[in-house]
Amino acid sequence: MNNITVTSPLLPPLEELTPYLEDIWSRKWLTNNGHYHQLLEKELCDYLKVDYISLFSNGTLALITALQSLELKGEVITTPYSFVATSHAILLNNLKPVFVDIDPNTFNIDPKKIEEAITENTSAILPVHVYGNPCDHDAIQKIADKHGLKVIYDAAHAFGVTKNGLSILNWGDLSILSFHATKAYSTIEGGAIICHTKEMKEKLDRLKNFGYESETQISMLGSNAKMNEIQAAFGLATLKHIKSSIEKRKEYSLIYSNKLNNIKEITLPIYSNDIEYNYSYFPILINEEISKNNRDQVFEKLKDCGIYSRRYFFPLITDFDFYQKRKDLRIHNIEKSTLISKNVICLPMHSNMDINDIYHIIDTIKRILL
Ligand SMILES: Cc1ncc(COP(=O)(O)O)c(C=O)c1O
Repeated sequence: MNNITVTSPLLPPLEELTPYLEDIWSRKWLTNNGHYHQLLEKELCDYLKVDYISLFSNGTLALITALQSLELKGEVITTPYSFVATSHAILLNNLKPVFVDIDPNTFNIDPKKIEEAITENTSAILPVHVYGNPCDHDAIQKIADKHGLKVIYDAAHAFGVTKNGLSILNWGDLSILSFHATKAYSTIEGGAIICHTKEMKEKLDRLKNFGYESETQISMLGSNAKMNEIQAAFGLATLKHIKSSIEKRKEYSLIYSNKLNNIKEITLPIYSNDIEYNYSYFPILINEEISKNNRDQVFEKLKDCGIYSRRYFFPLITDFDFYQKRKDLRIHNIEKSTLISKNVICLPMHSNMDINDIYHIIDTIKRILL
């Protein structure tokens, strides 16, 4: 059996990408709000059921720019159970991340812990829809409204996720997406900000282009975070295949769930009927008190069998040396995040696998655990 990787990019068939490239070659317009950039913004608004989207060269720059656009000050409450880009984006804006614990059932920031961490310096909340599983938005927005805080969702994992048929990307003040090659939908590198008004969209478009207002005027301190035409064309060609790719992920997730759900040594994700997921990840928790192998041993043994899983998120953001040394940052009690990070493992999940790979992974896990 060939090695099975935890993720593998969704690639459009080469013959479908080639006509886009030929057209770009004849237009000779490679970046700066080109034809395909505009087309992808339009098609993504339709697909994602959102009003305004601004494309970026990657998700991290989208996140940095989203925070910058809201002109925040002081502290931003967030989760340690995420990819470092989440809190790096706060620090890169000269703001301070304040870390609070997660709900161990959802892996998302626990709204009850947010309120305890609010001070007069708090200006925003930055929750993450971890693995594309929606946060408790009603509770978070209620707290934000009560204390006059902005809410920016790190929706890097949540491409296309809806609740009761409505996009969760419309929640909060802004949401950001990542279109990195490892994500369910990709533009190789890429990202986006979803916003609610034309004015904000124009501001974001200026911020990602040096702050240019017009050819002769700079109105704000912008960076360069534009998506280029080849990324956008790749995104358009890939968009035609996203539905079938998510269908396949769904099928594989359900097989994993059905075949692994009676193993007491592991805890599986819980899916809710009112949510349409994108099945980006398949995280399981190893219940180490009763398992003959702990998480790290499972990870290594799977690797020995050619199955490359990922300890994700591990280490916790707050456990990286860089963050440990930052004595000026407030870290509340994060025992649940610590526990989940110690026991979690994401199994291979992508549409380039076939069904035999899934059964092979299931059999191998059973052999390791039982
Ligand atoms: C939760 C989260 N936030 C932000 C990012 C950053 O996105 P990108 O890799 O596109 O910069 C990632 C992706 O890797 C992520 O997983």
